[in-house]
Amino acid sequence: MEVIIQPNQEAAAALVARIVAHDLRANPHLVLGLATGSTMECVYRHLVRLHQTEQLDFSLCSTFNLDEYVGLFPSDPNAYRHYMDRHLFRHVNVDPRNTHLPNGLATDLEAECRHYEAMIQRFGGIDLQLLGIGKAGHIGFNEPLSALRSRTRVKALTPTTLKQNAPLFGGEDKMPRRAITMGVGTIIEARRCVLLATGDSKADVIAQAVEGPITSMVTATALQLHPRCTVIVDEAAGAQLKEQEYYRWIFDNEPEWEGYR
Ligand code: GLP
Repeated sequence: MEVIIQPNQEAAAALVARIVAHDLRANPHLVLGLATGSTMECVYRHLVRLHQTEQLDFSLCSTFNLDEYVGLFPSDPNAYRHYMDRHLFRHVNVDPRNTHLPNGLATDLEAECRHYEAMIQRFGGIDLQLLGIGKAGHIGFNEPLSALRSRTRVKALTPTTLKQNAPLFGGEDKMPRRAITMGVGTIIEARRCVLLATGDSKADVIAQAVEGPITSMVTATALQLHPRCTVIVDEAAGAQLKEQEYYRWIFDNEPEWEGYR
């Protein structure tokens, strides 16, 4: 795992967008894993700008989102399909037929989960997976105690997650209690993972995810097993990390990051 500390949220999100742009230019057929949440909105803004000003081309790439609520229509403003259309898909030249999210309205949800896994396989696996992190340390909707080898499935949301996301729905009682999510095992099979966290509300969970012991109580810790995972934080989200000096030295000196400094 590598950690990059950026001065602020804007710089952190811009760096994630530049990594996506770099990988997409190197491989126009990139299979991109996407995440939702407020943290990612800034990344998508940067990607849209790169598309508009630097002709970043999405026409051949395919996307797979981490998760979707059970029971929401794609047109529901809180559906992740709606989020993706609003923040990215409709502003870039991605082929809508190549954009995938789990179908939270499927009558047979287990079959839908198996189908989603099979689709990822059919596209050759995910090349670059973007991740946020929930306040309970989850990636996707892999709530505490999710098996670290889990696959795409339906998960019940914890009280912490319900509380975190309820304001968007106008209250916990109006929000779905379950979601389809890629499993931890599915996520860590991606060839590259990039996790973005910003703001002081994420400082504690980032310290646990990066420097704490691997545990299914904080599913982001499974990323420590990944051979190519980059965690990008702003100063606020990185504030509780013990090895900040080491992380900064690597970003400032290692040739891999030369074009990104
Ligand atoms: C939801 C999503 C996660 C995301 C998290 C963080 O729980 N399922 O994939 O990482 O929100 O959201 P935010 O960026 O709004 O803090």
